[in-house]
Parts: sequence; C-alpha cells; structure tokens
Amino acid sequence: MPSRREVLRRAAVGVAVATALGAGALAWSSTLLGEYSVMSMGSGQDGGGQAGDGHSGHAQHSGAVGVAHGASGTFATGGDVSVTSLTADPDRPADVEVELTARQETIDVPGGRAVEGYTVNGSSPGPELRAQQGDLIEVTFRNESVTAGATLHWHGIDVPNAADGVAGITQDAVPAGGHHVYRFVAEDAGTYWYHSHQVSREQVLRGLLGALVIDPVAPADAAADLDITALLHVYGGQHTLNGRVADERIDAPPGSTVRVRVINSDQGTAAVWSDSPFRVIATDGRDINEPTDLRGQRLLIPAGGRADVAVQAPQHGSAALHVGGARRVLIGDPEASVPSIAQPSKSVDLLSYGAPEPLGFDPSSPDRSYDYVIARRFGLIDGRPGNFWTINGRMFPDVPMFHVAEGDVVVMRIVNESGEVHPMHLHGHHIVVLSREGTAASGSPWWVDSLDVRPGESYEIAFIADNPGIWSDHCHTLPHAVDGLVAHLMYDGVTTPFTIHGSAGNQPE
Ligand code: C2O
Ligand code: CU
Repeated sequence: MPSRREVLRRAAVGVAVATALGAGALAWSSTLLGEYSVMSMGSGQDGGGQAGDGHSGHAQHSGAVGVAHGASGTFATGGDVSVTSLTADPDRPADVEVELTARQETIDVPGGRAVEGYTVNGSSPGPELRAQQGDLIEVTFRNESVTAGATLHWHGIDVPNAADGVAGITQDAVPAGGHHVYRFVAEDAGTYWYHSHQVSREQVLRGLLGALVIDPVAPADAAADLDITALLHVYGGQHTLNGRVADERIDAPPGSTVRVRVINSDQGTAAVWSDSPFRVIATDGRDINEPTDLRGQRLLIPAGGRADVAVQAPQHGSAALHVGGARRVLIGDPEASVPSIAQPSKSVDLLSYGAPEPLGFDPSSPDRSYDYVIARRFGLIDGRPGNFWTINGRMFPDVPMFHVAEGDVVVMRIVNESGEVHPMHLHGHHIVVLSREGTAASGSPWWVDSLDVRPGESYEIAFIADNPGIWSDHCHTLPHAVDGLVAHLMYDGVTTPFTIHGSAGNQPE
C-alpha cells in the first residue's frame, strides 16, 4: 500500500502533467515529432533587431514544428545560403591532414576494466590532434562500425558552419561504412576537443572523443617549459586521466613551469586544485590577461570546458595538481611520493580574476538582446512524459530561435531557475561574461564557449555574430540536452537541407 504522502505526491504529479497538457502549451505533443528541421523549431525571436529585415518570415509560433513531406531539402525555402556552402576556402590546400576512424568496440582502459563503447583510431580518447594557429586542418572521418551513425564536432573551435559536425543541422550522420571530410582553419590557439554530435549523450559518454590543441604562432613570453594535456573522462564509473585509471607523472626540473591543459569531457563540473600555487592561464582556448597565483582555492571547469593551468615544479619532491576529484598530475621529481590534499571549498571567481583589457567590441548598445531562462516542468517531449527543461517557459521543440544578422552585437541574459547546474555551450562563437547577478566583470575578459550557470544564477554575456550559420546553443550535460535544453542561433538567410530523424536517422543529442 502506498503511504498517504506517496498517494498525494502521485496525485500532484498527475495534476502537473494534466495542467501542462491542458494549457495547450504542448498542442503538438499528441503526435510524435517525426522528421523535422531545426529551422522550423519553436518561436522565432528577433531580439530587438530592425523591423523589416526579413527574418520575421521564419518565425513560427507554438505548435509549429514542421513535419517533413518527402526528401530532405524540402525545408530549404526562403533563404539564400545553405549551411553546406559555409566552408573553408575550398581551393586552399590543407596544412594538416588527419584520418580518424570510429569504431563501436571494447575500449581498453589501462589500469581499470575494459568497457563497451566507441574508439577513434583504436583507442578512447582518440589521438590528440595538434596543429599551429592559422593551419587549415583537414580531417577525413570514417565510420567503420558505429551503427547509429556518427559525426565529429570540434568543440570550442569557431569553425565554418559546414564543418560543425552536428547531425541533422550541418550534415547527415555518417553511416557505418561512410566517410565525411571536415575542413577548417584553426584561427585561435588553445585547448579544444572533438566528439561525436550524433546521439551525443551515448557516443560522447562512451568515448567517441579526443583532444585537439592549437599552438600559437608566436608563443607568449611566459611560455611554459613543458606542455601537457589532461583529458578527463569517466568510463563506466572509472575516472580516467588521458584514458588511464592512473595519475600522470611529469618529470620536470625544479623551478620549471608546466602548462597543463585540462579538458573536461564529462557530464558534470570538474574541480582542479593543488598543494602548490597555480595560475589559470586560459579558459576555453582564450588567454587570461595577467593571471595571478592561486592558493587554497579550486578552479571549477564546466562540462565540455577547458582550462590551461600553469604549475611550477618545486625545489624538492613533486607538486600535485588534482584534476577532476579522482586523478592527479604530479609535477617534479618522478620518484617522489606525494600526499593527496583535500579539495578546498573556496572556488576562484573568474568574474574578478586577472586584469581587465579591452574586449575589442562594445556590448553597451547591442543589436539584439535575448533571454535564455532555464526552468523545469512536467510535460511530453516526442510523446515521452517527464519533468523536462524549459527555455523562456517553453518546452522543446517549442523553444526560442535566436535570430541574428552577421555583424550583430548580441547580449544574452542566461537565468537558471531550474535547481540544477547547466554548462551552457554555444557553437561557433566565443562569449564574454559581462556580469553575474548584476555584478559587472572586473577581471580579465572572461571568454568561454562553455559556461556553468548554477541554480539561481543569472549571467549577462555578449558575443559578436561573426560566423554565419545555424548553431546549437545547449547544455553540455548531454542528458539535459536530450531532455530539451537545446535552442539554436540562426543567421538571417541561412538554411539547412538536413533534418532531424528522417531517413538519415539524425539525432544530434
Ligand atoms: Cu561539445 Cu554541441 O557540443
Ligand atoms: Cu543542463
């Protein structure tokens, strides 16, 4: 017999679902989504853009998810530029050519137990790609055996839209036996990563990913003596560092500086701390201006985010950089035994870390202003009942479409009323934090592509719309994206011939 309280709780849930349905907010939800184009998603907004500039024609209101009739391509109406034409210069030869092959197979996890998942060139993480700033990178991606199809997305690199790797928006998922060529110029030095953007909650979780580092043409004067990558990933509950259930030991002479590029490829925030002072020298591939030494504080890296930290090898023994709670990078004497230290409770606040410098644009009178308010309620997505995320009060796919024109300065207010942290990730652009809860940023410009917005927080961020295309703007706790925490940024006049679901089986989330 359920207790009285349980009965009441169930009744309350029932009422909540009934209310959501009764309100007509989900009029479409009596049918399944079927095949659809992201272009027809949700409610078009213009964020205060000039009236009559043409994009209102795309705007559709609740219940307006297009259902496909016929082949993909039928959606490309009313615009002039297809995402497929937004490419790197097709005549420019590649500077770096890479072949990456994905397989669905057992992943060997050194130091732990093997798990079923996905590999790239036989391992997970796949090979670290390294190139120099300005290089044109050409990756031939082969899907040997991933039955659901796969893609590669270059997380944090502001690639041309055609190379963004989002199944159903910028390409069809590459079927087993197929291949796809990605070409982009790595304009910005820094730490990035790649991962599949087809059924990403499953394929990223199970290892279809790797690191990507772009070296600067002219290394900064404070260049580190050693430069290493620390990619964090959990495989079936096993916390790994660069794919192994083990600490990394870096043999570094006393006084030398090591740049540790921490990549958080997991679904939640990762903490970094040390027994020695360390500096945060970059976030998400953008340098911090005049970073200072941190002591007794931890750095929090959002899911999908990266942070480059500089640690000095001590005169004796080894410094321990704790990364992600379970693993460490030990820097110094490789024989030294190094005690673990507890995670500090105080977190460095990047809102006031480092020294200010000009942003390079003026966000004070933006061309577009948008809200991205995250909350939660009961309802149905694609016929599936649940307690789903909402954006500006609406549930997927009836979420806002953020329209922009090339050159716009865009300001967005991200508000989290949902009770859980969300690492918000905008494709194709870097955003700069203007304020949090009304407190203006006072440190180094804080540029990111992945931003943790904690419960109750509100951020004001800005970016320049300088990369035409259709771009996903979603939570990087990927199960949240599946449960509706995904919207899109759409440039006027850009269209996509690709669709979600449909015969190519595209399922970006
Ligand atoms: Cu790292 Cu849309 O993803
Ligand atoms: Cu989330």
